[in-house]
Amino acid sequence: MKVLIIGQGGREHALAWKLSGRNEIYCAPGNAGMSEIASYFEIYDKAELLNLAIKEKIDMTIVGPEAYLVEGIVDDFEKHDLKIFGPNQKAATIEGSKVFAKVLMQKYGIPTSPFEVFDDPNAADRYILRIEKPVVIKADGLAAGKGAIVARTKEEAFKAIDDLMRKKIFKDAGNKVVVEEFLTGWEVSILAFCDGYTIVPMVSSMDYKKAYENDRGPNTGGMGSIAPSPYYTGELSQFVNREILLKTVNALNREGIEYKGVLYAGLMVTKDGPKVLEFNCRFGDPETQSILLLLKSDLMEIFEAVVEGELSKCKISWSDEKAVCVVLASEGYPESYKTGYEISGLEKLKDVVVFHAGTKKVDGKILTSGGRVLNVCAKAKTYVEAKDKVYEAIKKIHFENMYFRKDVANLSDL
Ligand code: AMP
Ligand code: GLY
Repeated sequence: MKVLIIGQGGREHALAWKLSGRNEIYCAPGNAGMSEIASYFEIYDKAELLNLAIKEKIDMTIVGPEAYLVEGIVDDFEKHDLKIFGPNQKAATIEGSKVFAKVLMQKYGIPTSPFEVFDDPNAADRYILRIEKPVVIKADGLAAGKGAIVARTKEEAFKAIDDLMRKKIFKDAGNKVVVEEFLTGWEVSILAFCDGYTIVPMVSSMDYKKAYENDRGPNTGGMGSIAPSPYYTGELSQFVNREILLKTVNALNREGIEYKGVLYAGLMVTKDGPKVLEFNCRFGDPETQSILLLLKSDLMEIFEAVVEGELSKCKISWSDEKAVCVVLASEGYPESYKTGYEISGLEKLKDVVVFHAGTKKVDGKILTSGGRVLNVCAKAKTYVEAKDKVYEAIKKIHFENMYFRKDVANLSDL
């Protein structure tokens, strides 16, 4: 089959890697790693992507980044009878609007932290003045993963309201905000395939969100991941499947919304049970890199079953090994960083899979071109073995300003 993968990160390279061999892969805009296994088109625009799929007679399109989904790329492709994996625009609102997601959860009794919604910064300030507990302030709209601000003090909360709603650092995404109670516990990412009615959860995973070791520094898209989460037990997973995933899909159906694609629940497991921090309408990055290493089934069969609404007939099996992914980033990420440095050592690696993210090929050389540059991944019987393979391989890779966390899958945490 001819498959078009939209996006250019480690997640998309992992999808291309998993689908290659049995399928002919096209990628747009892709990266240097994807260009080795796929036909490469430097196209970003939604309308041009549609033209590409029509022209190349693409059998199935897979969408990585949320922005295209929230902008309605699935609706556009479906209008042209093109198969595409992902939720339509209405369904993608579960990620596109935090207010929509929180109100849905409240209406249908899906566990999440208590919250208020504001469209007026002065009213938000007055509310913050009254409350005692720490809060998290979230821009309603998409903000490239940076729209949730943990405010431990009232001053931090006022600043967050000012930044989001008055200074509009994320533009219209800050027209409304959610102010929610700060939760403590441990985080886990549960991604599930969903065909509108049936959900099939993938193996659990965890990402390392903070830029620096020991969870210090600013939030990033993710500096590493492991799968499965060592703490996610059978009992907990049954609760999450029933009370969170299935309940959400049923709630959406009751609202007249059919959800097809990946439903990603970011959870905080508190002493009162798991609570939804956020929903994403797509595969996670870098969770997908670890998850796909453990998938034994044919990924294209799953995509087809989702699109056809026949997921209940699909048997999905997973390796019981452990997977670890460490992101090699450009020093300075997630703030400012330099790019254009040559990457060396990739050809010498054993026992790992390297998924590219911010890389590009220029005159036969692979250069850095983004904040997150490479994802070095391995699987093994234990987390320690998988982690050792990854960190051994990293010693052989070099580019100027390379930075990575040394505590992914750290033994003391597991
Ligand atoms: P979000 O974009 O909503 O997933 O938030 C990004 C990150 O902020 C999460 O992965 C958590 O680490 C943190 N976070 C979000 N909401 C809360 C909350 N209510 N309590 C504590 N931490 C949170
Ligand atoms: N790793 C977090 C995300 O994909 O949103």
